[in-house]
Amino acid sequence: MTAYETKTGGHGHDHGDGSGHSHGHKHGHGDHDIDWADMAPVLEQNAEVTAPVYRQVATWLRELRPAGAEPSLVVDAGSGPGVVTCLLAEAFPGAEVVAADPERALLDRAEARAARLGLGDRVRAHRAELPDGLGELPPADLIWAARSVHHVGDQVAALTALGERLAPGGALAVLEGGLPPRSLPRDIGMGRPGLQARLDAANEEWFTRMRGSLPGATEVTEDWAALLAAAGLRHVATRTFLLDLPAPLDERARAHAIATFERYRDLAAAEGPEELAADDVAVLDRLLDPEDPRGLHRRPDMFLLVAHTVHVAVKEG
Ligand SMILES: C[S@@+](CC[C@H](N)C(=O)[O-])C[C@H]1O[C@@H](n2cnc3c(N)ncnc32)[C@H](O)[C@@H]1O
Repeated sequence: MTAYETKTGGHGHDHGDGSGHSHGHKHGHGDHDIDWADMAPVLEQNAEVTAPVYRQVATWLRELRPAGAEPSLVVDAGSGPGVVTCLLAEAFPGAEVVAADPERALLDRAEARAARLGLGDRVRAHRAELPDGLGELPPADLIWAARSVHHVGDQVAALTALGERLAPGGALAVLEGGLPPRSLPRDIGMGRPGLQARLDAANEEWFTRMRGSLPGATEVTEDWAALLAAAGLRHVATRTFLLDLPAPLDERARAHAIATFERYRDLAAAEGPEELAADDVAVLDRLLDPEDPRGLHRRPDMFLLVAHTVHVAVKEG
């Protein structure tokens, strides 16, 4: 058994994407139940608040390329509503950029955003579902896959399919892992201290179940360097980028942080008391009450701290 075949049950993730909750679900607890079109505003808000990080990532990806080698085709695999697709188009002004996603409604938003930003001539949408479906695209110089690979049952198959779409010397950048978002101090002046750690734990349980429900679900050690090597690529770098927005948050960041807590509350309602104790759920209700002086709408101490980890591998030329 190779390292990547070892079963561990899928620890170490913050999916950090707002997808893990009943808010965006049709029915049931499986990933294939996630209503991605319904999630569009949350995905957009998340990516917009995180834009400073994505710009740093794009600069780093540019630095990793051989000097003078401008990419001509960049693919955003699992692009969602295209916020990052457009940032990539801005960071690589000589490139055609493809937003690839299975969800037509999200691709429509990606196209509309690109047109709004004057990028419509270089950004196009391509409906595709990993691990298959990217085959019609010409070889890409850079493929960006942010929190999309973990929605595929067989993650090595997804990485392999992405690697096959790379031009020789091209790079695959996968955003997975990092640290879950934090917005509140340990002691928030009500309930038991440590609420956010318990919310993270509940979220991890959901995430493991979500992965288990995917078609062809395969458990692997989520060692992304090893997984990229298993996909036939050479891992070259891993780096973590911090979104560090101190209190007081502006309205947009606060709204985004509140949306995260709303999804925790939805998750608690969907999953029942074995995931989150009743006293924590009661505190969540207070936090979400716009009238509560200690609630999220009014607290001066809310911040947003998230770590995003990017793993880069290249296809040998
Ligand atoms: C958490 S969202 C991330 C969106 C975007 N990459 C971002 O970071 O803002 C996950 C995205 O993966 C897409 N997705 C889900 N299953 C997929 C699959 N099998 N192949 C490709 N994309 C998939 C969803 O439609 C959704 O847009």
